[in-house]
Amino acid sequence: MLQGKRILLIVAGGIAAYKSLDLIRRLKERGAAVRCVLTASGAEFVTPLSLGALSEDKIYGDLFSLTDEAEMGHIRLSRDADLLVVAPATADLIAKMASGIADDLATTVLLAADKKVLIAPAMNVRMWEHVATRRNIARLEADGVIRVGPEIGAMACGEFGAGRMAEPADILAAIEAALGDTGGLEGVRALVTSGPTYEPIDPVRFIGNRSSGKQGHAIAAACARLGAGVTLVSGPTAEPDPPGVTTIRVETARQMLDACESALPADIAICAAAVADWRVAEAAPEKLKKVSGKSEPKLELVRNPDILASLSARKNDRPRLVIGFAAETEKLEQNARDKLARKGCDWLLANDVSPATGAFGGDANTMHLFVAEPNGSDVTVEHWPRLSKAAIAARLAERIAVALKTKSGPVRA
Ligand code: CTP
Repeated sequence: MLQGKRILLIVAGGIAAYKSLDLIRRLKERGAAVRCVLTASGAEFVTPLSLGALSEDKIYGDLFSLTDEAEMGHIRLSRDADLLVVAPATADLIAKMASGIADDLATTVLLAADKKVLIAPAMNVRMWEHVATRRNIARLEADGVIRVGPEIGAMACGEFGAGRMAEPADILAAIEAALGDTGGLEGVRALVTSGPTYEPIDPVRFIGNRSSGKQGHAIAAACARLGAGVTLVSGPTAEPDPPGVTTIRVETARQMLDACESALPADIAICAAAVADWRVAEAAPEKLKKVSGKSEPKLELVRNPDILASLSARKNDRPRLVIGFAAETEKLEQNARDKLARKGCDWLLANDVSPATGAFGGDANTMHLFVAEPNGSDVTVEHWPRLSKAAIAARLAERIAVALKTKSGPVRA
């Protein structure tokens, strides 16, 4: 919660300014007081009226307004806040901040700040990648400015790449982290599976898949950031162990299931691993050799345990909230609904992994959250925008925190 915290939100000129309206709403919901500074170019994108209605405060915009200065000098405006947030932070404003220019109210307030400053950059990908912006960002980070985003995605200008402003949920998570508010999963035990499994054929060969573990690891890290005690059961991946998380490395599906069962009880289970559905019935104890004249080896496959389904089916120690993932290449909605019912989990995050999407092994994804309603037959669907895997993780962790807070006992019952 951000009860009693005072946020000074600086809204600069960018198409992403509309997202700042949602950010204000979320901040107010959490009990924060929000005061807005709108730059002249920001006012081309959102009106002082909408900012004022949502923040329930006066909007500050003109450095030289004598009335404003009499009521609230720009130094006090800056000093009264617990945190200054610039969202969207344009290339121009970032450049001014990096050089200490103070030529309007926003930059003056920023230069007068004695509190932490958080920026949510938003700009065209070329501008973001420009050496000058890179230099300015490095300068600001060295000065202690905190940054959230930008995300990779489609831009208003029609290009694709890094530069989209972080989603309000992610900016909110960054604000909570900056203010030392761990944000809602304190005391919650989370179990997360991640990565592929490797099923041995012989001592050197295995059946595996292309899962990178990026999404599962990011989820474990996001839950830990919100204060959860996290056990991450990971198949073989190149991802480093997330900080503050107990990571158990396994190879096979059966080892993954054992490790998950040993990690119970847990309040939430999130199965993001791409578990191999089959294993070789009898892995050869010695390396299989090519022997001329002999027929090629035949692999007999048997079904692996379904970790998500077995966690969902547990009687006495079923986690309150069990979340699965569905990677589909066709009929996403129908397959996701079927999978939610078949696996017995409460939520299912589904995405399209057909090769054109670049989802497998990539850094961004478009997710659809299928939520089983309490009556057991209805399902609601939330379509999320294309987000980085880190942003998906932050959004999911925040969504979980809200669900656990608003329901006691099993989340679905
Ligand atoms: N899963 C699991 N254990 C398995 C297989 C899958 O825990 N043996 C979990 C995954 O972690 C994911 C969800 O189940 O959360 C969906 O997995 P997926 O492989 O997409 O679905 P399948 O059940 O294999 O269905 P299908 O092959 O028909 O798509």
